[in-house]
Amino acid sequence: MSQLLIRGGRRLEGEVTIQGAKNSVLPILAATLLAEDQVVLEDCPRLRDVDASVRILRSLGCRAEWQGEDLLVNTAALDRWAISDVLMREMRSSAIFLGAILARCGQADISYPGGCELGPRPIDLHLAGLRDLGAEIREEGGVLRCAASRLTGREVVLGLPSVGATENLMLAACGAEGTTVIANAAREPEIVDLQNFLNACGARVSGAGSSSVTVEGKRRLHGCAYRCMPDRIVTATYLCALASAGGEIRLKGGVEGHLSTLTALLREAGCEITSDRAGITCVCRDRLQAVRPVRTAPYPGFPTDAQALLMAALLRSRGATVFEENMFENRYRHVDELTRMGASVRVSGRVAVVTGVETLQGAPVRCTDLRGGAALCVAALAAEGESRISAVHHIDRGYEDIARDLRALGAEVTRTETEH
Ligand code: UD1
Repeated sequence: MSQLLIRGGRRLEGEVTIQGAKNSVLPILAATLLAEDQVVLEDCPRLRDVDASVRILRSLGCRAEWQGEDLLVNTAALDRWAISDVLMREMRSSAIFLGAILARCGQADISYPGGCELGPRPIDLHLAGLRDLGAEIREEGGVLRCAASRLTGREVVLGLPSVGATENLMLAACGAEGTTVIANAAREPEIVDLQNFLNACGARVSGAGSSSVTVEGKRRLHGCAYRCMPDRIVTATYLCALASAGGEIRLKGGVEGHLSTLTALLREAGCEITSDRAGITCVCRDRLQAVRPVRTAPYPGFPTDAQALLMAALLRSRGATVFEENMFENRYRHVDELTRMGASVRVSGRVAVVTGVETLQGAPVRCTDLRGGAALCVAALAAEGESRISAVHHIDRGYEDIARDLRALGAEVTRTETEH
């Protein structure tokens, strides 16, 4: 088991380069199933979820190998269309393989993707959309058996702008006859990145970033070399770390335009943020002020993935801030851990109210999920004394090496491995 030891109370000063985006690279790895020859993912982030995707690709008969910082994938030898229950449970975004396998093989067997870290994460919209394109899907003893001798393009209207469902349908639509229009599509930057990747392989996809995505199907896709976008939630993490601890940092490769709802609130709280094409600089000198209510919403609204991070940054602010979590049912699990450090947070249903306290104290705390775990690091940076953060495997799902990055930003962080 890994632990992070963070000695708080130091102002941050330094610079890091933002890693590639987890939420881009995962659907792109599924999309490699549609390309006939080698795909090179340049500077691919090394994450636990990327490893899980690599294992899925290999289990299907594909080749996936690291060459330095690049991940080389060749799916030409694919000879299976079923993903085992063990692999499906490792990662929630495994569901995105469904659309790609169906497009490539005309059939796919998967089980429901794992766990309920943030509350129920249904895939009903994914399945309804795939059925609209002509897939037959039945459930047999927990396995979803999907068949589509032929997928046919048409308009598919999503009941909610689900990121995963939009991506799944984009991939399936690449294998459908004719044109598919996904209406009420999610608008996240990662969907634009998936479109760019598919088009680099020879697909014809347009509209990503708006709520209507159009895919012309049945084009032959070839391999390409691609570098995915910088991770906006990792960027958010280090901005919140700075807001929490104070100081001045530079985030190379960070794109402020992907995070403007967060940066607007950080400015309101008292941070100075400037950005240019090469990155973001953030300065924070004084204790933060509380900000207006933070309501999570689909992009371009405030990202649910940054809710815990901003909450952690505001624990020592002057005044009270209201959070409203509208995306997932169970996304305040970090609050009990933050309370161990002396935070004052009251939760009632989807609302949490943070009342700033003067000081936080380092404490032994446990990661409850990926972003909740990163939020514990953000809080620990501002706490007096040492925090011992356990269950770091949650953080490893989405951060290449959070200890390395925080050290580069001037924090006192070490990682230890223990037997239990
Ligand atoms: C993606 C992100 C995740 C982020 C989330 C919301 C990836 C790999 N993960 O997750 O980090 O927190 O977007 O921004 O990109 N829903 C249904 N039925 C469905 C699908 C979704 O009811 O079939 C609901 C969900 O329960 C949730 C909402 O729609 O309340 C949004 O979920 P969705 O956008 O699908 O999130 P993910 O793609 O799972």
